[in-house]
Amino acid sequence: MTKPILVSGIQPSGRLHIGNYLGALKNFVELQNSGKYQCYFFIADLHSLTESYTPEEKHKQILELTADFVAAGLDPKKSVIFLQSQIPAHSELAWILSTITPTGELRRMTQYKDKSDNEKDSANTGLLTYPILMAADIILYDAKFVPVGEDQVQHLELTRTLARKFNSRFGEIFIEPQPILTETPRIMSLKNPEKKMSKSDPSSCVFLDDSPEDIRAKFKSATTDSGNEIKFDKAKPGISNLLKIFSAVSGESIKESEKMFAGSTYSNFKGAVAESIVAHFTDFRKRKSTLLARPKTLTNLLSSGSKKASLRANRKIKEIKNRVGLTV
Ligand code: ADP
Ligand code: TRP
Repeated sequence: MTKPILVSGIQPSGRLHIGNYLGALKNFVELQNSGKYQCYFFIADLHSLTESYTPEEKHKQILELTADFVAAGLDPKKSVIFLQSQIPAHSELAWILSTITPTGELRRMTQYKDKSDNEKDSANTGLLTYPILMAADIILYDAKFVPVGEDQVQHLELTRTLARKFNSRFGEIFIEPQPILTETPRIMSLKNPEKKMSKSDPSSCVFLDDSPEDIRAKFKSATTDSGNEIKFDKAKPGISNLLKIFSAVSGESIKESEKMFAGSTYSNFKGAVAESIVAHFTDFRKRKSTLLARPKTLTNLLSSGSKKASLRANRKIKEIKNRVGLTV
């Protein structure tokens, strides 16, 4: 039996933080290594054009994210690793899907509302149509599974709706994909545990390639709660977030982690979480800097992955165009 297809992407829009890692990238590596899926992982460079950038920055961010992927354990021998913009079929399908997407559906997307909030009418159109391109990225590959963090689940629901709508109008051609979430699909900000850790607020983030000193300082100043018990509890969002982070990197359950720190002070606990992160990313940091020293290897890796992904994508887009009657 052929293995089910799994697709996911990350935008090259800044350094990865531990939320991106624990919600997405760590899982990409585990799913790849499970050997149960045909994996496609890509750099969503077209999506990232919706936020401000310079061309020099963008080029650097693409290389950085490729290095992040490989340093974290994605392996071009096991997964197809590619660059979204090298495959025109993504944009072509996005256009076709846009013609069956009600604008109202796009306006109610939480990520759009958050990102366009202070800009109102000047927000770029790409921010609004962003989920259509994401739907195209997924259904173009007949993906059954999509590993993402919780904030992307709403976009996947739209993807399913669009696949269903297209199928009912033009005949069964697309699979409705399902999200795969980790135990930590929503890591919270260290400054404000009511808010998601997000690249758009760098002060809330611990980055994967932060120096050990920065990591220690960030955890030291993490917001905690009243009381003094290390306990997973709704009423203790700060401590609960730190327990989740510790549990995810150490592999200990939350219960076991609570036991380990029973009687410990907040300050000692925060120190221990910081050390677990420092240790977890030591090899990652080394591998990443080695990879970045050879940019040509990284661009070659992407080109050869994009060639492989194009085979599937080009076959599918041809079939799609046939279905809608774009043939002469
Ligand atoms: P950001 O929201 O920081 O800009 P991206 O949108 O580039 O990050 O997200 C890349 C991946 O990381 C997505 O699958 C997303 O759902 C996941 N992700 C982002 N933030 C978090 C978080 N705080 N906790 C868990 N997963 C997250
Ligand atoms: N929208 C995702 C994010 O912000 C990135 C993304 C683009 C993606 N296309 C995708 C994720 C397809 C999964 C599948 O993180």
